[in-house]
Amino acid sequence: MAQTGVTAVPAQVEAIQGDGSGVRSDVRDSAIRSGYKAVRSATSALAASMSAEDQMVQSCPEASPMKWHQAHTTWFFETFVLCPFLKDCKPLREEFHWLFNSYYNSLGQEIPEKGLRSVFSRPSLDEVLAFRAHIDQEMDRFLARGADEEATRRIVLGLNHEQQHQELALTDIKHAFFSNPLFPSYVAGSLSEEKDSPVSKLTWHSFDGGLVETGYPLRAEDPLDFCFDNETPRHNTFLEPFQIATREVS
Ligand SMILES: [Fe+2]
Repeated sequence: MAQTGVTAVPAQVEAIQGDGSGVRSDVRDSAIRSGYKAVRSATSALAASMSAEDQMVQSCPEASPMKWHQAHTTWFFETFVLCPFLKDCKPLREEFHWLFNSYYNSLGQEIPEKGLRSVFSRPSLDEVLAFRAHIDQEMDRFLARGADEEATRRIVLGLNHEQQHQELALTDIKHAFFSNPLFPSYVAGSLSEEKDSPVSKLTWHSFDGGLVETGYPLRAEDPLDFCFDNETPRHNTFLEPFQIATREVS
C-alpha cells in the first residue's frame, strides 16, 4: 500500500502513538477509539462552514472538492479495515470502491480522472455524509470487539491519511475562495485583532553541524507507532554549522 506525503501529527494521534509498545490491548483499543473519533470529528468541523456548493468546487486540477475528501477518507476505512477484517462487512455502495479511490492502482479498477472530481454531483453531499456516518458506526462496532495488530496499524495509517487530507482540504478551499471573484471568507469575522499581536525580537539558535542521525526512529514492533515512508530510513547526514531563527518571519 502506498503511503503518501508528509503530515503534521496533532495531539490526538500523538496521544495514541506515545508509547504503544507493551501497552495492554484494552488501553490500546481505547486510545484508538478516541483517536478515531477525534480525527473524524475534526474533518466534519472543517466542513461545517462550507455549503454543499462550496464542497463541490475544484478550482484547479490539482485540488479536490471537500465532498470528495470526505468520501475518500471514509473509503479508506471501508476498503482497508472493515472489508478485510470484519466478516459480515458489505460495502455500502459497490461503486464507491473505485469512485473514491485515488491512487491505489493495486485495487485493480480504473480510477476516475482526478481533474474531473468536481463533476461528481452524484452522489449528493447528503449521500456522502450518510456514507461517513455508516462507516463510523461500523468502525465503532469493529473497535468494540478489539482490533488486532495489523488492523491497528491500518487504522493508525487511515487516521494519519485523513489528517493529511484535512491539510489538503484547507489549501484546496483557500485556492477556491481566492479564485472566486467575491473572495468569500472560510471563517466569518475579522482578523483585525491579530494585527496587534506583539512580535518578539528575532534572535538565532546556533548549531555546530557535523555527522547527525536523521529520519524517524520507527518502532516496527509497535502497531501504534507511525511515520510516512518518506520519513525513513534512519540514516546519517553531514550538516554544515547553521543557525535557525527563534520565530517565524513574514
Ligand atoms: Fe488519500
